[in-house]
Formats: sequence, C-alpha cells, structure tokens
Amino acid sequence: MTENDFLPGDYQNLPEQGKVTWKAPSNIALVKYWGKRPVQMPANPSISFTLDACATTTSVSFEKKNTKDGFSFDLFFEGKPKDDFKPKIQTFLERIEMYLPFLKEYHFTIGTSNSFPHSSGIASSASGMAALSMCLMDIEKQLNPKLDDSLFFVKASYLARLGSGSACRSTKGNLVQWGAHQNIPNSSDLYGIEYPFEINPVFKSYCDTILLVHKGQKQVSSTVGHQLMHGHPYAENRFEQAFSNLDRLKPILADCNLEEFIELVESEALTLHAMMMTSMPYFMLMKPDTLEIINKIWEYREATKTPVCFTLDAGANVHLLYPEADKEKVQDFIKNELAEHCQNGQYIHDQVGLGAIKING
Ligand code: DP6
Repeated sequence: MTENDFLPGDYQNLPEQGKVTWKAPSNIALVKYWGKRPVQMPANPSISFTLDACATTTSVSFEKKNTKDGFSFDLFFEGKPKDDFKPKIQTFLERIEMYLPFLKEYHFTIGTSNSFPHSSGIASSASGMAALSMCLMDIEKQLNPKLDDSLFFVKASYLARLGSGSACRSTKGNLVQWGAHQNIPNSSDLYGIEYPFEINPVFKSYCDTILLVHKGQKQVSSTVGHQLMHGHPYAENRFEQAFSNLDRLKPILADCNLEEFIELVESEALTLHAMMMTSMPYFMLMKPDTLEIINKIWEYREATKTPVCFTLDAGANVHLLYPEADKEKVQDFIKNELAEHCQNGQYIHDQVGLGAIKING
C-alpha cells in the first residue's frame, strides 16, 4: 500500500455529534527503532511484543462546528485539563489532516487515561497515539461505512506512526513488525503489520514485568535521541544489524529457540544504549539500579537455567521477559531480589496481548 491508499473516499453522512472510545496497549520492542527520517520514517525495521495491561484508554467526543478554519479540541488527562499535551496533538492533527478531512468540521473533546501509574516513566506515547488514532478511524468509519476492516486497522497504524513511530506497533497483537524489509512480505515503512511468519505459542503468552527503576522526566526525549543517529559514526552498521536481526528472529520465533532469543534481545537493548552513549552529545540513561538488575538477571539465569532476559527502552526501566511457564518462580525472584532496586519497590506484571479494542458506552 502507498500513501495514496490512505486518502479518504467520499463521506456519505456527517453526523452532528458522537463519541467513541478505544483502548490501546503499549508495546516493547525486541529489535529497536532508533533513527528516523522525515516524516516519521524509520531508519531500520523493528518488531515488538504488544502488551496487555499497560494501556491507554481514550474517548473522543465530537460536535459539528460552524467554521472550518482550524482545529478545535480540548484535552483532558485523567479528568483534568492537560494543556501541555496540546502542541503534540496539534502537530499530529496537522500531519494527518489530509487523510481525515473531517478534522476541521468538528470540535473534539479528547479524554485520556493510562492504566499504569502517572509519571511511572513508562512511555505512554505509543499507547496514547494508537488509542487516539483508533478513535479517529472509528469516526472516519461512521462517515464512510464502506471502509473495510483491514484498511481500517492499517490506516489506524499509519496515522499512529505520524504521531509517534512506535505507536504504529500498538494497534494489533501479538507481535508487530514495522519497517520495509526485503524478506518480510508486506512490510512497510508506513505502518506496522502483524508478524507474518510462524510464531511458537510460547511467545504468544510471553510475560513482561516492567521494573520501574526511575520515574519522572526522561533526560532526553526519544525525538531528540532519534535525531542523534544522523551523522552518528556507527549508524550505518547499527541499521544493518537491525535488518539482519529481523532475519535471525524468524527461525528463533518459529522454533522457540530461547537461548538465541535471549542473546538477540539483550544485545538489541544494549546496542540501543550504546548508540546513546556514543552519539554527540552523548548521554547515559541507565541508572546504577538498572545495572544491578541486569547483573542479578544474569546470575539468576546462570544459576537456575531459567530463560529470563531483559530489554530496555530509552530510559532506566528494565523489562524482564520470560515464558509464562516460568511465571511463578520468576515473579518470586522479582519480589525477593529485584524489587529493592525499583523506585518505591514498584513494578508492573504484563503479558503479550492482542492489540487495540473498542470500548462500548
Ligand atoms: C527506544 O516511538 O517514542 O522505544 O517516533 O519520535 O515518537 P518518536 O519515537 P518513539 O521511539 C521509540 C524508541 C524505542 C525503541 C522502540 O520502541 O522501537
């Protein structure tokens, strides 16, 4: 599909008002997206587990307005007005306007809330932009009932990408791949696709416990981080590595080769942080507790042969990944050994999930 496929058809009816609600999950990348070119095109392909418990629920109420001269919206986060999110939403609406021409016909009231604790340091842009995109597509579907289901989801992912790159991997489950790759049919830089190859059932119920090492504002936004890959001395090698890691993952996911899975996933996480440490300016997002946790995971894995591994996003928190079959013992290990390295002892148990869902009412 090309960008033109996302231009809308003729609208049949423009309702006076309405309300839609969608819930979209967060995701955790196994092969990381780090580096992009305008507009929101990834420098390399990536793949993620869609999560389940960590999610954003967004309602969009819409009401016909008299003028069409600009976007009009109010934004509420957890029931309270949230004006500091408005510029991001404004940019998003400007980017997607040509694909959703009804945007200037309505005044929107956007209400959003996260399942995870506020300021937990978990990125909410992926789930937030995915939930908002699902809502806007739902309105588009009301205006154009002929819109088919598969285009509905692909276009939602396309729009979400224009809000935040990783958000395009949050509309569907359980493994979503984004970024054109010659060996992955239908892969595209424009949107995420459900991983088209065999996935061993073990990975469809994989567990992810997010250890909240450091809450609060990140030292560097991911937008700035992506930019630092321009002119980065190791960028080209890194991008090639991501392409080849996607090739390597294919048999790993089909045959459930956990040893190689662990090696690839941990290497991706450390490479992401190595890129940040070797960019100019350089920065370090791991905290002492991040390293303590990583060392304890390695010791525990060595001692118990339990296939538990870690990944990181652009922050200090650690995602602990393990098969559901090992849930009980790993969660004991977390409680007894790792919780002490988390801020206020906080962590969130999550699992691979199925993607965005509509909420009725
Ligand atoms: C490290 O999707 O947050 O989590 O497109 O600028 O919104 P923008 O970036 P964003 O970057 C996510 C980076 C990452 C890796 C990943 O999720 O693949």
